Amino acid sequence: MDDLQIAHEAAEAGAEVIRRHFGRGVEAEWKGEVDPVTAVDREAEEAVLAVIRRRRPSDRILAEESGGDDWNEGRVWIVDPLDGTVNFVHGLPQVATSVGLRSDGRGLVGVVASVVNREVFAAESGNGATLNGKPIHVSSEPTPSRALVGTGFAYDRQQRAQEMANTLAGVLREFQGIRRIGSAALDLCWVAAGRMDAYWEYGVRPWDTAAGALIVAEAGGRVTAFDGMPYPLDDPGIVATNGLVHDALLRAIQP
Ligand code: IPD
Ligand code: CA
Ligand code: CA
Repeated sequence: MDDLQIAHEAAEAGAEVIRRHFGRGVEAEWKGEVDPVTAVDREAEEAVLAVIRRRRPSDRILAEESGGDDWNEGRVWIVDPLDGTVNFVHGLPQVATSVGLRSDGRGLVGVVASVVNREVFAAESGNGATLNGKPIHVSSEPTPSRALVGTGFAYDRQQRAQEMANTLAGVLREFQGIRRIGSAALDLCWVAAGRMDAYWEYGVRPWDTAAGALIVAEAGGRVTAFDGMPYPLDDPGIVATNGLVHDALLRAIQP
């Protein structure tokens, strides 16, 4: 089995766990004041990790709920078992399992399985990106006022509410509109599929973006940090676009 097939199998194993519990009123525990986690996050992570450990016993793993290794050396699988836990707790359907594989800091494969509608986004370095097996591409919209932009609000938003509001105002002035999907992995995949033209967020973690950033890049998009340099995965800020509205979005989000 190749790495991409393993990523598919692992992401699907996580998604299957979440699907069994979706809409059944799962109890939240609290990591922070607004940051929930559930038994389903942990059960989905176990299912994902079991596949990776069985298929690639010598690879290392960084996973949101159980932690793990530095991701810049050797082969490391980076796992968010349930991206969109707030959505999950409220029964909103934008929830996904994200599985990425990096080798010496370079993305090799990424799979994001959207749990409820069974869309599976995937990419392999150099081979393009797909949705349910069919090639996808970023949009060709060059005009910011016609470009739809996704974003997210990190869990430390209470401390940074005003700063975030200022950034939102800058984007609202220039762009068509803003969507807050509630899953960073799906934000990225929706840019890759051309549904949204751009996405930015400050406060993401490696497991939110490892798979999705590769999927955007392989779909022909551009992914950077807020300073316009290539996105290094340990940067809290990510900007992912169709390339054409990238510079305009970078300008709009500068403080
Ligand atoms: C969160 C989601 C959300 C984003 C947050 C993430 P989680 O992940 O991706 O859309 O705005 O920054 O932490 O906690 O649901 O896995
Ligand atoms: Ca996440
Ligand atoms: Ca998560």
